[in-house]
Amino acid sequence: MDLGADRRGVDMGPSAIRYGGLADQFEKLGTSCIDSGDLAVPRPEERDPDADEPSGGRAKFRRETEEVCEDVRTAVRGTIDDGEFPLVLGGDHSIAIGTVAGAADPDESLGIVWFDAHGDFNTPQTTPSGNIHGMSLAGILGKGSFGDEPWAHTPAVSEENVVLVGLRDVDDEERELINESDVTAYTMSDIDARSVPTVVDEAIDIATDGTDAIHVSLDLDWLDPTEAPGVGTPVRGGVSYREAHIAMEYVAERRDQLRSMEMVEVNPILDDHNRTAELACELAASAFGKVVL
Ligand code: ARG
Ligand code: MN
Ligand code: MN
Ligand code: MN
Repeated sequence: MDLGADRRGVDMGPSAIRYGGLADQFEKLGTSCIDSGDLAVPRPEERDPDADEPSGGRAKFRRETEEVCEDVRTAVRGTIDDGEFPLVLGGDHSIAIGTVAGAADPDESLGIVWFDAHGDFNTPQTTPSGNIHGMSLAGILGKGSFGDEPWAHTPAVSEENVVLVGLRDVDDEERELINESDVTAYTMSDIDARSVPTVVDEAIDIATDGTDAIHVSLDLDWLDPTEAPGVGTPVRGGVSYREAHIAMEYVAERRDQLRSMEMVEVNPILDDHNRTAELACELAASAFGKVVL
């Protein structure tokens, strides 16, 4: 899926991640995995991004994104109902709307840890780009509206249990929305001052506090572009290779509370010999319990 981003190419992310050896990583871990294949996504050339545009808000390919996210939701829910763990491969970050909707049992509460350079906290009212990947987290929390309707809202997620980790590129109105909200947001400065292990441990504590389970959303642009050049919206000053691994090792330690995970924004067109996709596979291995000794 790449309808939620300006630059084409993240729709090939899942292929690149498969090619990068994801199944091998799971095999080495002794974890069986089923590849459920790709979901169908409309081709942007055949659609009008602003077809469904009431006044007072902009969200390009809104209808198409809703359709895809509905399919993601169904697939994720079905996976959980089968007693399996859903690992969703993106694709631009708008797919999180579907992943979270599928992971969040309506009778329960779900925490989220969102590793990202960006807040993804714009709304159809504040977005500078119209790109839904920059609005997905705000949408999940019921912020903003489209015409008269709320959009993307997943009531099982409450702001108190949502944590952003690694911010370094936030738009002005988006900043206000984050600051007004009850989400916890750790910037790269917080990480510099307090270290990845301290911040990630605290983030997971907040996401798991009083919730039934958590979802981990990993935007590969969380990492520094020297490690992860193949992303649509790179921002200098991200976490290192080792820091990303220890963060995923901390996720693995909370395996009992982990309900679902997604890895997004891998763009093979911009990548350096599939390095970012391979990195995603290695990070998945750490998140699923790879240990050296
Ligand atoms: N803040 C910018 C926007 O709203 C960029 C968002 C980038 N998001 C992402 N998931 N890579 O357009
Ligand atoms: Mn469909
Ligand atoms: Mn993102
Ligand atoms: Mn991002």
